[in-house]
Amino acid sequence: MCGIVGYIGEQKAAPILLKGLQRLEYRGYDSAGIAVHDSVQINLVKCKGKVSNLQKRLEETPLVGNIGIGHTRWATHGPPNDENAHPHATANNEMVIIHNGIIENFDTLKKGLIQRGHTFQSDTDTEVLIHLVDDIKRNEEDITLFEAVRKALNEVVGAYAIVVMSRENPNQLIAAKKGSPLVIGIGKQEGEYFIASDATPIIEHTKNVVYLEDEEIAIVDRESGLQLRNIKNQEKTPYIQELKMQLEALEKGGYEHFMLKEIYEQPRSVRDSMRGRLNVNKGIVALGGIREYEQKLIQAKRIIIVACGTSWHAGLVGEYLFEDLARIPVEVEYASEFRYRNPIIAEDDVVIAISQSGETADTLAAIEMAKQRGATIIGICNVIGSTIPRTTHAGSYTHAGPEIGVASTKAFTAQVTVLTLMALSVAQGKGTIPHSRFQRLLIELDAVPEKIEKVLQLDDQIQYIADYYKNATNALYLGRGINFPVALEGALKLKEISYIHAEGYPAAEMKHGPIALIDENMPVVVIATQGASYDKIVSNVQEVKARKGKVIAVVTQGDEQVKALADHTIEIPEVDEVLMGLISVIPLQLLSYHVAVMRGCNVDQPRNLAKSVTVE
Ligand code: M6R
Repeated sequence: MCGIVGYIGEQKAAPILLKGLQRLEYRGYDSAGIAVHDSVQINLVKCKGKVSNLQKRLEETPLVGNIGIGHTRWATHGPPNDENAHPHATANNEMVIIHNGIIENFDTLKKGLIQRGHTFQSDTDTEVLIHLVDDIKRNEEDITLFEAVRKALNEVVGAYAIVVMSRENPNQLIAAKKGSPLVIGIGKQEGEYFIASDATPIIEHTKNVVYLEDEEIAIVDRESGLQLRNIKNQEKTPYIQELKMQLEALEKGGYEHFMLKEIYEQPRSVRDSMRGRLNVNKGIVALGGIREYEQKLIQAKRIIIVACGTSWHAGLVGEYLFEDLARIPVEVEYASEFRYRNPIIAEDDVVIAISQSGETADTLAAIEMAKQRGATIIGICNVIGSTIPRTTHAGSYTHAGPEIGVASTKAFTAQVTVLTLMALSVAQGKGTIPHSRFQRLLIELDAVPEKIEKVLQLDDQIQYIADYYKNATNALYLGRGINFPVALEGALKLKEISYIHAEGYPAAEMKHGPIALIDENMPVVVIATQGASYDKIVSNVQEVKARKGKVIAVVTQGDEQVKALADHTIEIPEVDEVLMGLISVIPLQLLSYHVAVMRGCNVDQPRNLAKSVTVE
């Protein structure tokens, strides 16, 4: 959610903040704003809409100064408009704040502040927080900005990543975090610092960063440097880490959209997810990050997978893999439901938390709950240094590289790759897989990137199919076995970027309800690849055709039966059934992408969505 950026140093702040907001726009894009201290006063420009709107406003009203903060918003409190855009300020821009998160007790705080004479310009919880800081400052003579922020944060219930700037302190920014991520980059010049909700705007300036921990407050000062304290006012030592991310990974690299680039990156990202973990010649699968906990997995009575959205779909693929290969019962839970139930969790349960961003609030809360109940928690995450990998007992990074498009593509295939490696490794450790099958799967897994390449070569054909169905208002996606979660993922991709209503179903469930929807206007995407239930899915295709539905079938190369029935077929390379999800999802990603582009939708920043869901 919301993107935060801050700068302090010798350079002009506004261009750095603006570029930072462009990099962070995938986190939220309904309004944006910047405040810059010109060493006398704080000036502010903010407006509804995308960062490009803000850029135009800044051309008309340039902001001068070497210290400033910027924000791109994903609305929680109040509609997207100029007033609700951040930064929020107290009277005469004495103090300004940017915030990501939710202040849950903002209403109570606001009532008290109104009684004490504060007036508000916006509907946001954030404005309440800066007035609270102001209130504390008014009532305590000589209190420092840090101390006022610290005291205010002690009154706050909820999640926050904030940066505060004050007219009185032209050399200082105060940053703090609880529940929402915040990272500080240490610039190459003395006294230069960058602050951001993730490392993407920082990477072009410095590789040295400090990730704030929950309830830490940073005093970032041009003269006295970086100091860390917590909200109890105890001193903390900043831990400086080196970023491994490459700047090119954050650019479109000649593609029209990040989503397309990321779809095309999958041969590489799947290969990177396996790198150093799969050795076909030696017959070894080893995930270094979970080595110490592998016995826990081998002995687990049950695996519980918690995740949201696309990551939850990857979890469903994981269920098939662990059950089939390692013979361990698996439950796949929406993190948002799991955290509010009273689930039975035993100490010999292993919880696998899957998340691209590593910041998803519901997944984090599910982890905390399972941890408190004694389970072992293993993370599968993409963003290095994000909160989930720091909260889990052990884990494996997916190494897909930064995913900027809001619609997850390469993160999904990387997650499934890591789950496959994990399941194979546990299966080998448990002795639940015959050696010959194990060896064959390693060979096949190793060949998956080339097979993805082959599917990508079908792009023109998929574009042609997209053109045929671009005006649909509904779509059904059907699959069986491991292709059922792929059907769910295909439907999610279509709905989130093209706004066509789409549902995924296990193919056999169709006759228990959704079949009523089928007529000549209903496109039905059927993943009908070779496997144990091929004959069954052929029957499902016949059922759709008998009701005049339009079938787009994803089939294995050389298929004749489904091809004869379907309106359009996409032939993908053959692969062992347990690995099929890695291949069959690719045409569905491309189909959604092209339909969305043809409908004129913003595929990288679909309406109402944000890349990283840090609020519940
Ligand atoms: O970062 P996470 O993987 O935890 O995010 C979970 C979901 O919000 C995410 O997968 C979402 O469903 C995708 N952006 C959809 O494409």
